[in-house]
Amino acid sequence: MRILLLTHAFNSLTQRLAAELQRRGHETSIEFDIADSVTEEAVALFKPDLIVAPYLRRAIPESIWKRHVCLVVHPGIVGDRGPSALDWALQEGAAEWGVTVLQAEAEMDAGPVWATATFPLRAAKKSSIYRNEVTQAAVTAVLQAVEKYAAGKAPTPLADWANARGRLRPLMKQADRAIDWQRDDSATVLRKINAADGFPGVADHLFGIPCHIFDAWPEASLAGVSTVGAGRVIGRRETAVLRRTRDGAVWIGHARREGGFKLPTSLAFPEETADLAVVPLAAWWRMDHASWQDIAWEESGQVGFLHFEFYNGAMSTTQCHRLREALAWAKTRPVRVIVLAGGADFWSNGIHLNVIEQAESPADESWANINAMNDLALELINSGRQITIAALAGNAGAGGCFLARAADLLWARDGVMLNPHYKNMGNLYGSEYWTYLLPRRVGEQGARDIMRNRQPLTAQGAVEIGFSDACLAGDPDAFRIDVARRAMEIAAAADLDQRLAAKRERRAADEAAKPLAAYREEELAQMRRNFYGFDPSYHVARHHFVRKSLASWTPRHLARHRDLGWQG
Ligand code: COA
Repeated sequence: MRILLLTHAFNSLTQRLAAELQRRGHETSIEFDIADSVTEEAVALFKPDLIVAPYLRRAIPESIWKRHVCLVVHPGIVGDRGPSALDWALQEGAAEWGVTVLQAEAEMDAGPVWATATFPLRAAKKSSIYRNEVTQAAVTAVLQAVEKYAAGKAPTPLADWANARGRLRPLMKQADRAIDWQRDDSATVLRKINAADGFPGVADHLFGIPCHIFDAWPEASLAGVSTVGAGRVIGRRETAVLRRTRDGAVWIGHARREGGFKLPTSLAFPEETADLAVVPLAAWWRMDHASWQDIAWEESGQVGFLHFEFYNGAMSTTQCHRLREALAWAKTRPVRVIVLAGGADFWSNGIHLNVIEQAESPADESWANINAMNDLALELINSGRQITIAALAGNAGAGGCFLARAADLLWARDGVMLNPHYKNMGNLYGSEYWTYLLPRRVGEQGARDIMRNRQPLTAQGAVEIGFSDACLAGDPDAFRIDVARRAMEIAAAADLDQRLAAKRERRAADEAAKPLAAYREEELAQMRRNFYGFDPSYHVARHHFVRKSLASWTPRHLARHRDLGWQG
């Protein structure tokens, strides 16, 4: 079938759906929801058999849904309606939640049901539930709905749906989200901030200054300690601050000041946090599941796991330096295999665009950040004593993908989306040694195609084109276990020493043919132009990305129906 994906943005859920539909032989094109007339034009051009709306912020125009079947993905159980579906479910601690695919009609979310899928609801950030459980359930439900539609079946009217537990819920307002620091215990504070992450955050104050807060973490060592001074900020660790609650304390990792954009808390409040007491971890490398910790190390026999839980996968200059230091230290440990485990939701999305945007000189900060990313990639490429594995439990984009490719092996969880290209960010050329790492995996032409086409890859698709080495279990726990088992096998293999020797030889031969420094220099010459040259595209794109400016057109590489050569 010919399926038009009508969406607010090409987010990872939309990317995944497009890929899954294509895999099943459907022809897809993307149109952003810009204006009714633009949507009408897209429909006239593409002549879709079906329209799927994975992520919309407003209703589909009547002129469209009256003439075409439009399947709307709603992140709620059957009967649930309203724009804050997940927010209410998380804030109220629902045990189970779901995704429903409805047919668009006059009343929002009230059309007949084509399919639904449910999942146990984790106590986690809304953004994490969206990228994991919701995305997976949406894929299941949309594929079911499309099959049903193709088979000529009809949807079930909402009224005929037995045991529908959902109901109409209003938009969740800041008043519903408000934290009462004197009354709310840590669990309630965490639940409220989780239900608002990554958008819109909870409106609050830090240091007496109004802001929205995000990215809350527990602090188990103070749990149950009845305190005076609830609401007070009592310390910091790296970029996060520790704040008292009625019965303990929670960490706040990110904040957005009025009129600003989201930043690590210490950067949003540099003066106010400068003199706060630093609360150290017992040992930074030891995994502590009950405190704020962005870099952690676990060792199991001959295998070491380096975790880096950087919010949104964005890696600032400082974070790159700290991670490089951690990796250099890990390489001195008595392990034969190092697994770079990244974070649960993201592995890496490259340089930290928000931190760059905030800097006094964004060009200088971009330069520092890309050099720090390169130093980190170099540390990984030059690791002759161990086999290194990038294990992607979460998505990776731009420089993050090439950082992963700098490891000997790249394994991704089924369901992960990869965007190994840079051009979407104002025609950025990119670095991270991609000109060395990519062609040797996919060939010169393959590398050019990937960079030019700017299409997302599924974990499976990445293996098929040779970008990655394995697509492993989709369930996060099964993935972790599978990664650990395979890494142990490599560490215990009889031929490990030969394998490491072959790796060192290959690196030496590559270095003799063309030194890594030359690749870096060539890439950075292009990046210098992106950062300091006369064409401001990168700075403009970053400005809009960070401030989440609304799109005013659909990029041509996505809207295939708008290609001049496209034949309907
Ligand atoms: N720097 C800062 N923030 C970043 C980031 C980066 N490099 N990459 C993603 N984010 C943030 C987004 O702004 C968003 O913030 P929010 O919490 O306020 O919503 C969040 O991470 C999630 O991003 P989103 O685009 O919603 O995630 P996705 O999984 O749907 O899409 C990408 C993933 C990779 C396609 C998309 O995030 C992207 O294009 N990122 C930019 C990559 C890039 O150009 N990096 C710089 C060049 S190396």
